[in-house]
Amino acid sequence: MERTLAIIKPDGLLGNYTDDIKKTIIEYGSSIFKEKIVQLDEATVEQFYAQHSSKSFFSRLIKYMTSGPVLVMVLEKDNAIADWRALMGPTDASKAKITHPHSIRAKCGLDIERNCVHGSDSLKSAQREIPFFFKELSSGQ
Ligand code: PPS
Repeated sequence: MERTLAIIKPDGLLGNYTDDIKKTIIEYGSSIFKEKIVQLDEATVEQFYAQHSSKSFFSRLIKYMTSGPVLVMVLEKDNAIADWRALMGPTDASKAKITHPHSIRAKCGLDIERNCVHGSDSLKSAQREIPFFFKELSSGQ
């Protein structure tokens, strides 16, 4: 079994997509091992996305991720990291609507900024991101 970190971002939570997204996760064979709703502050988002701090979109990303509560989850299944990324679809939700119309971002996201969900992009990321939000899982996987 593998674990990954999934986040339903503010537009997903406030847009009432949570139940549909969770249903998709369960139908796809994942269990939701841990979950919590949190209101992120700027310092936490800056730390979480630190690898993007030099990117032009960094300040917009922080503003977006602090604009409302998020639902943070640990998903568990075989191949959880790649499978959740595939379910999410491409980063740019406006492109996902054309190329991956059944993906979560196509259904719930708007564009490259407001793209509704996050997923760890590698085992290394999952091992950092899971204990970032769930300190009791400090071994990550
Ligand atoms: S990169 O440049 O390829 O490393 O970035 P990418 O993996 O595509 O995206 C990293 C996260 O930044 C978000 N992002 C943006 N936010 C706001 N505006 C713009 N233009 C933008 N481009 C990318 C993107 O949604 C990623 O967030 P997560 O939560 O990791 O999916």
